[in-house]
Amino acid sequence: TELSDSPFSEFVGKHPGEPNVMEPGLISDPFAGYGALREQGPVVRGRFVDDTPVWFITRFEEAREVLRDQRFANSPAHSAGGGNADTPVDRLLEIMGLPEHYRVYLSGTILNMDAPDHTRIRRLVSRAFTARKITDLRPRVADIADDVLRRLPEHAVDGVVDLIPHFAYPLPITVICELVGIPEADRPKWREWGTHLVSTRPELHPETFPEMIDHIHALIRERRAALTDDLLSELIRVHDDDGSRLSDVEMVTLVLTLVLAGHETTAHLITNGVAALLTHPDQLQLLKSEPELLPRAVHELMRWCGPVHLTQLRYATEDVELGGVRIKKGEAVTPVLVSANHDPRHFADPARLDLTRQPAGRAENHVGFGHGMHYCLGASLARQEAEVAFGKLLAHYPDVSLAVAPEDLRRVPLPGSWRLASLPLRLS
Ligand code: HEM
Repeated sequence: TELSDSPFSEFVGKHPGEPNVMEPGLISDPFAGYGALREQGPVVRGRFVDDTPVWFITRFEEAREVLRDQRFANSPAHSAGGGNADTPVDRLLEIMGLPEHYRVYLSGTILNMDAPDHTRIRRLVSRAFTARKITDLRPRVADIADDVLRRLPEHAVDGVVDLIPHFAYPLPITVICELVGIPEADRPKWREWGTHLVSTRPELHPETFPEMIDHIHALIRERRAALTDDLLSELIRVHDDDGSRLSDVEMVTLVLTLVLAGHETTAHLITNGVAALLTHPDQLQLLKSEPELLPRAVHELMRWCGPVHLTQLRYATEDVELGGVRIKKGEAVTPVLVSANHDPRHFADPARLDLTRQPAGRAENHVGFGHGMHYCLGASLARQEAEVAFGKLLAHYPDVSLAVAPEDLRRVPLPGSWRLASLPLRLS
């Protein structure tokens, strides 16, 4: 129902033969829906939520090619034509009735940037996400997981507990908020904002975006008076030292992106992964008997049920020939991660969950975290959190099981992402 009430639903079916990401078929079964498009061709014409014409890049090789091809820009302003056309940001401003003032925050995130701005910002913030820093964080992630898991039974009703609010969210939100420096009291608010922002009914929450921006500005003012060693303080130091290295808006959108991207997606990887393991008893058994499989298992779960299905739009900065199609300057493309990760040209028997499929070692063989310049900044953090989450859940509750039939697991109907609405479990 939420889908048909969405202001974006009016575009569905408006252009016959051009699949729209809001179409119920693509949303209810993206594996089959985008899989069918993939078998039509590597580059398929369709429509984005706001009716923007878009080329779906459906296959593994072509998706990777586009994601590392510098002829595609993330900012529409960098492709002639695209800069004048309506973009998803224009539509969002209009639907939420937001003053023009907020445009810079919506369109100024790292994901909307291109070189050289992107390179500058990415370099600044990468320092907080080095392999070393992430490894150092592991004991803290494990402590948080232990703590949250010990309290899990308190939330059970008739022996059943929903993993999403009581574990899948609290773990990553605590980790990213500690890393960035968001006070504990503010975390429930962030959880709510995150949910509002990915909704297909943004018009129901026009206050969310302005609230978040005001909140971050206030947080920065407070922290400036007493800097610590968190990421927020580090950003403030860089900004105050030299505004040309990090502007005001960049500082605010970075905090916003890191906190939102840092918990929403990870929470759903944890949820999807636990659901996948519990519905594949042989794989669950394998993991229990060989816990050292965890890193490979997380790679495979990312491939098989990663939470992000579509990337941000890219815009061609010149005409590009790809997969027999001429993508014209200014036109938008989106690599479809879900169909790429299930592309039989790259993965044998792609629908099969096989925790041993991914090569041993740390390399990953999927595009669930993207690829190229905008490859997920938090991938190693997210993988580590998922490893800890699966390992600790099974250690605390080795007999955990689904409390509903697998076919009764409900999803949140959202284009471009794979999220369960709840994950009811019995702990023993
Ligand atoms: C970028 C997925 C966790 C921060 C991306 C992209 C994907 C992705 C697909 C590329 C999007 C594109 O190219 O259009 C995921 C998934 C996660 C996850 C599936 C969890 C399972 C995280 C975490 C953080 C984070 C924990 C922060 C700590 C970012 C940032 C970018 C990004 C900042 C933009 C990078 C850039 O533009 O250079 N993520 N992410 N993500 N992710 Fe993640």
